Amino acid sequence: MKTLEITPLEGKTLKVIIVEKEYSEPFWIIEPTNNHTPKNILSSRFKPSVAFCNFLEKLIDEVKPDFITEEQGNRSAKEFSEKNAIAQISQKSNIPLFAVDMDENAKGYVFSLLEEKKELRDRILKALEEMPNKDSMEKEYLIAYGQCLQQEIEEIEREAKFSVRENWIVMGILENARKMEKEEIVCIHVSSPEHVSGVKKLLESVDAEVETIKPSKKLVFTQEKASPAEIEDLLKSMQIKIKPVIKKTSEEAPYILFFLDTDKRASPFDICMAYDAGFSVVVPYENVTFEEARKIVQDAIFSRDPKGVKRTCFFIGGKDMEKAEEILKVVRDSMFPPFQANTIIDPAGAYTTAAAMVAKVEDALVKSKLGSLKDKKVAVFGTGAVGRVAAVLLAKLGCNVMIVSPNPNRTNGEEYVTKLSNLLRHKYGVNVEGVFAPTPDKKAEVIKKADVIFCASVAGVRIVTKEMLSEVKLVKVIADVNAVPPLGVEGMKLNDDMREFAPGIFGIGPLTIGRLKYKLERGILREARRNGKGTVYNYNYAIELARKILKGELPAAKLTVTVSYPPKERKGS
Ligand SMILES: NC(=O)c1ccc[n+]([C@@H]2O[C@H](COP(=O)([O-])OP(=O)(O)OC[C@H]3O[C@@H](n4cnc5c(N)ncnc54)[C@H](OP(=O)(O)O)[C@@H]3O)[C@@H](O)[C@H]2O)c1
Repeated sequence: MKTLEITPLEGKTLKVIIVEKEYSEPFWIIEPTNNHTPKNILSSRFKPSVAFCNFLEKLIDEVKPDFITEEQGNRSAKEFSEKNAIAQISQKSNIPLFAVDMDENAKGYVFSLLEEKKELRDRILKALEEMPNKDSMEKEYLIAYGQCLQQEIEEIEREAKFSVRENWIVMGILENARKMEKEEIVCIHVSSPEHVSGVKKLLESVDAEVETIKPSKKLVFTQEKASPAEIEDLLKSMQIKIKPVIKKTSEEAPYILFFLDTDKRASPFDICMAYDAGFSVVVPYENVTFEEARKIVQDAIFSRDPKGVKRTCFFIGGKDMEKAEEILKVVRDSMFPPFQANTIIDPAGAYTTAAAMVAKVEDALVKSKLGSLKDKKVAVFGTGAVGRVAAVLLAKLGCNVMIVSPNPNRTNGEEYVTKLSNLLRHKYGVNVEGVFAPTPDKKAEVIKKADVIFCASVAGVRIVTKEMLSEVKLVKVIADVNAVPPLGVEGMKLNDDMREFAPGIFGIGPLTIGRLKYKLERGILREARRNGKGTVYNYNYAIELARKILKGELPAAKLTVTVSYPPKERKGS
């Protein structure tokens, strides 16, 4: 007999795209209705519509999953594989489809538990019927007893239908993922609407990346006769939304993150992110020096056996990037096999911000058919950690890079940018031209020379004005990471994503980059938590992950399908 057990995948990553279907798959407790009134014909079809099938086919074609899963419900294995539209799609696209659902024995167990209680309830009902009509104490007690039993029955049914069944569904998905001979697995799970939320929660609790898709149908009227509002209301009223809360407890060693910050105060942003990524405990250390870093690391790793070290992680933060890099060196030198814990370095969020900014621009240029970033001349305004790392990543990509100090308050500007250029050459092995541009004229000169501009200057200070942009002749792309008003670029909006905000100038705003940065930091923290291989997660890792995230994002527009009657001839049919 199979036992219900949900354990994370070892050494594999799983991405599950949950596609919500249009109806809830009949499950053994619910009796499908067979009343043929027009309303029931619509609500009891229990088969996906042609629009849904078209959508699913397109999604499979776009995502190319390793396998597909669907709840088996009340269907026999034969019905599931032969009389099922999803199975036909799976065969056509050559992607295996697996049924996932509650095990027959488990069903039997719950069934017998329910039968006992139902039998008792029915006896009480019968007794009540036979009792004289007038009120009596005995009758009151019997009614109360019956009500309690009915409540228990409904509770057991709810439990079985939601938390128990969803656990079986998730176990089925994980079992099939385990069988795949790959490290990075993608699954499309076709789910009843009522199970989307529960299954998503459970999958996330075992570190699977989950995306949910609810294909929403819109009615387009070509004639004016029908009333769109009524039909849309009817469709809405047919949806069921139930959100069970399921908690999973784990008795394994906790995931501990030691947060070594060189600043006076450890960043609450990173602490919150770490908890949200699933760390059980985050221990912040502030004003960390090299000597203290060594002590903290060795004290921490020796307290845990090698298995525990896999669940231990160090995170290095602080505004001073060079100091953070030195601390990283000390941290890594203090470890030796098998006591090597994962280490993340992201000084004041600069590495993930710079990686998100560069990857986003790179992706946007390709999607807008503006060529490849590596062939461009770029200017990075800002010499803080974000600007420096962006300059390093861009130079490594092959761009011709200027790093610009835009600060009118700096007195030793020329000397400063020369020293910075030398530092980037010696420490990071890249050639970057240092430019001091404290005045509007100097900034305009830089802007004219560059094809792509990255604005990573201090928060709340405008660097690029409309006037500077008015002289621009060729198409330019500008990305800004300053989300504090006034934004770094005049005319740009927080959520811009390649909006042409001035003639020939396309902007990518701070929140567009911020959202990717957020996903990136969460992704790194999650990966560092579950993959105890003693890895260093730095800006090189960050940009690779940012590219993957951008590649994996499903553009909704691409997935839209239109179904018209009579159907047009489909490709290959
Ligand atoms: N979205 C996120 O999650 C996130 C995370 C981190 C950072 N950020 C943003 O990224 C940007 C850069 O951050 P950072 O930590 O790398 O650097 P920063 O220390 O905030 O800024 C450094 C740059 O600003 C210049 N600067 C300072 N005062 C100036 C002034 N009055 N006028 C013009 N320039 C001035 C500095 O000039 P010098 O060259 O002369 O030193 C330097 O180039 C900030 O806007 C920050 O808010 C966003």
